[in-house]
Amino acid sequence: MSHDTEQLLTQLRAIVGDAGLVTDLDAQAPYLKDWLGKWQGRVAAVVRPANTAETAEVVRLCHVTHTPIVTQGGNTGMSGGATPDDSGAQVILSTTRMNRIREVDPINNTMTVDAGVILANAQQAAQEVGRYFPLSLGAEGSCTVGGNLATNAGGIAVLRFGNMRELALGLEVVLPDGRIWNGLRALRKDNTGYDLRDLFIGSEGTLGIITGAVLKLFAQSHARATAWVGADSLEQLVELLARTRARCGERLVAFEMMSAASLALVLAQVDQTRAPLAQPTVFNALVELADTEDSGLQRMLEDVLGQALEDGLIADAMFCASQAQSAALWKLREGISQAQVRAGKVIKHDIALPISSLAPFTHAAEEAIAGSGLGGCEIINFGHLGDGNLHFNVMIALSSTYDELRHATLVLNRLVHDLVARLNGSISAEHGVGQLRRDELKHYKQPLEMELMMRIKQAFDPNLIMNPGKLV
Ligand code: FAD
Ligand code: MLT
Ligand code: ZN
Repeated sequence: MSHDTEQLLTQLRAIVGDAGLVTDLDAQAPYLKDWLGKWQGRVAAVVRPANTAETAEVVRLCHVTHTPIVTQGGNTGMSGGATPDDSGAQVILSTTRMNRIREVDPINNTMTVDAGVILANAQQAAQEVGRYFPLSLGAEGSCTVGGNLATNAGGIAVLRFGNMRELALGLEVVLPDGRIWNGLRALRKDNTGYDLRDLFIGSEGTLGIITGAVLKLFAQSHARATAWVGADSLEQLVELLARTRARCGERLVAFEMMSAASLALVLAQVDQTRAPLAQPTVFNALVELADTEDSGLQRMLEDVLGQALEDGLIADAMFCASQAQSAALWKLREGISQAQVRAGKVIKHDIALPISSLAPFTHAAEEAIAGSGLGGCEIINFGHLGDGNLHFNVMIALSSTYDELRHATLVLNRLVHDLVARLNGSISAEHGVGQLRRDELKHYKQPLEMELMMRIKQAFDPNLIMNPGKLV
């Protein structure tokens, strides 16, 4: 180990102690690889500060020694943003020891938490005071609030409550030079200049380390109505979404789509699952209404779907009669990520489009893939239809070589993202850009936007130590 690294470790240990420094290679292993198993790196050390002050001291040291920092929360990201490179010169700063719920204020409907708080624990803390924190996604048992903020995470309740950006009121951030910005204001109105908070949300660890946040809380839903719908086309599901929104308004909290292939994959790969409808349909939707009290939600949902069945808009529908049935349907939807990893090599897309463009995009993309000459592609199309966010993924054989996967990724990214660009969509809806889509972003983002983002990056992180090689 070089003298510089030796010296760096000594200085890091002086700040975080033995409990906060992971140098043993086996102990480092879980931090060095991403959840999908796509990226693997090496580090000088994994540093686990206990609080904001220790984080600031670590960053100050890295600033003066020009040591790159890869911030990591739950390491559930899907874009390789939390995985170091293989130089061994970087450090991972893990926020997982900073996991205090600092304050819950039910009168102000806010909660102040450490960035390393696991999302499920934040949801629980809200529940304990009779409130609701609505961000919900398949990784909620291990992803962190800091990671959710850094990726501006979406999930299954965006339709009603928005992305993480809409759920945060204030931030505490350690800047790339080690200074601490305390922006932990619990205000819904604060018009005092540029929105620094929103700059850090979605910055993926490239502008600073989020160490604390003030989150919005909402009234708890005591009534829910859930149904599974089968339709022969995406156009029909888009029309059903419009009808359900018009009739149910804010009570519509989720409208998730799964293609027949997505559902078949989960049924094949995930235990204790079964098809909700007697006959498979080309597309499926999981529709959920919620309200603070039962204002006839079940009847409202039955009216909307009953009318759609009568009009031939949908082919079939199954209404949940119990919490257990609803949980079984959500298990199908949330099982897709795992099912894909088990079944094959996946080229993932995380696109956002105007809802009216979702069906035309899907047709055009399916045709283009059929004509691409790429054999053995299976389209796994699913996502958050209510937000216009599709995970238009393509699976190739598990036995595909690295070069075959690379080639398929280049061809399919270009094909899918060109279509998205033509339809004025976004190539990155909720997972973040990370290292996965960094080159694609350069290809599609307006040069002026890239220039402005680079100037902001230079202004905040002139030594370029914050998560190099990610996002910008
Ligand atoms: P990490 O993976 O640790 O890091 C992600 C990025 O944020 C990295 O760039 C990292 O450097 C940065 N970062 C982390 N913490 C901080 C911090 N405190 N300050 C600054 N930068 C930081 N995502 C969705 O949006 N919607 C979904 O529906 C969804 N479903 C998922 C389902 C499964 C099964 C899995 C495995 C993942 C899913 N994800 C989803 C992706 C992932 O869970 C989210 O991106 C999540 O927000 C990442 O949080 P994390 O704490 O794991 O962050
Ligand atoms: C989801 O919607 O399930 C997540 O974004 C994860 C994924 O895309 O696999
Ligand atoms: Zn998603």
